[in-house]
Amino acid sequence: MTRVRVCRDCCCGTTGKHPGVDHDGLLDRLVATAGAGARVEVSTCLLACEKSNVVVVQPGAEGRLAGGRAVWLRAVLDTDAVDAIAGWVRDGGPGLADVPPGRAPLVTTPGVLGEAVL
Ligand code: FES
Repeated sequence: MTRVRVCRDCCCGTTGKHPGVDHDGLLDRLVATAGAGARVEVSTCLLACEKSNVVVVQPGAEGRLAGGRAVWLRAVLDTDAVDAIAGWVRDGGPGLADVPPGRAPLVTTPGVLGEAVL
C-alpha cells in the first residue's frame, strides 16, 4: 500500500505561514481522492519547513520492487497540487507511475535529516 505522509506541524498546514489556504480542506480532499491503494497519514514536522507544505509519497511493496523510492513534494498548497498527487497515487505512485507532467517542480529533496524522519 502506498503511504502518503502529509506534514502538519509548526509550518505545514498553518495559516500563520500560509494564510488563506484551506489546509484542512486540502487534507480532506487528499484523503477522499487518493484511492483504496493508499493510506494518508498526518505527520509531525519532517524538518523541511522551508518547503512547506510538504507531502512524502512512499511506494508500496510493488512500487518498491519496481525501483520506486520515497518522493518528497513541496509547496502543496492548492487543489491542483493535491489532485495531481492523488491521481499519481491512484496510478500506482513511485516505481509504478511517473510524476504527472507539469508537476515535477513539486518534487524536492528530503529535509535535513533525509529519510531518517520517515
Ligand atoms: S512543519 Fe512540515 S516540514 Fe516542518
